[in-house]
Amino acid sequence: MKHKPSIEDILELSGIDILHPGGFEITKRIGEIVDMTGKKVLDGACGRGTLPCYYAREFRARITGIDLNPEMIESAVKKAASEGVEDQTQFQVGDALCLPFETDFFDVVINECAVGLTPDPQKCLNEMTRVTRHGGFVVIHENTWLADVADVDNDEIARRIGTVPYTLPEWTVMMQESGLTDLWTEDWSGLENLYKMRHDRRVKNLGQMFSLGERLFNVFPKTISKYGLKGVLYANESSRMINPLYANGELGYSLLKGQKPHVT
Ligand SMILES: C[S@@+](CC[C@H](N)C(=O)[O-])C[C@H]1O[C@@H](n2cnc3c(N)ncnc32)[C@H](O)[C@@H]1O
Repeated sequence: MKHKPSIEDILELSGIDILHPGGFEITKRIGEIVDMTGKKVLDGACGRGTLPCYYAREFRARITGIDLNPEMIESAVKKAASEGVEDQTQFQVGDALCLPFETDFFDVVINECAVGLTPDPQKCLNEMTRVTRHGGFVVIHENTWLADVADVDNDEIARRIGTVPYTLPEWTVMMQESGLTDLWTEDWSGLENLYKMRHDRRVKNLGQMFSLGERLFNVFPKTISKYGLKGVLYANESSRMINPLYANGELGYSLLKGQKPHVT
């Protein structure tokens, strides 16, 4: 039994339907900055399909979502049917590191909060850029180191969050390396943005991310059965280590957009 679940493991296991800071607000912002209306879009790690369904509904996008986890794809298909957007959406199991699509195919390729959790973020970005048409956009949002934190082991923090944060210059260079130009970034740091992950309830501090009922009857029993009591203790310890980093502005969150150059 694995005894060291990351925060990402716990969030996924909880079943909440948005798994990124900024919640629907950052998702809406993406739709606006790339003018997603009617576009052919790929979401390279679509989770439970909440965001693709949102883009289909609000921007009439034709959107393909892939995710490595078959359970996520099952949820996404059900969500699309329940929201009446199954004709505009398509979901399949797939790996963001090896996208099963033709080169230059999509108008917009997004990855919401899952580039840093792949073993090779540069390869992930290269793949996203490859399948984007010339003149199209790639958008990601990711955990970002805002300050040098001398007394913190960055590798341990990454293991505990379940994703590797980079500095903004590092993210920018990786996007450029993948072939993108006209890079644009926006800051979404701060605990208030982290809380927006729960769009379905008001959260004023991290202790309220899950209600008492959710903790007692969902998150706690599921964590115990999958990771044991040691896993629960480890996750609590991770929260206590990571929360101050967000609160003190050492760890933040960034939205980044780049364009695949037009053919000259
Ligand atoms: C932080 S969640 C983000 C999900 C969704 N984009 C959201 O913001 O709610 C990370 C997701 O990435 C998926 N994932 C992890 N590695 C992946 C990979 N190599 N290819 C595709 N999906 C991956 C996980 O299964 C999980 O659903």
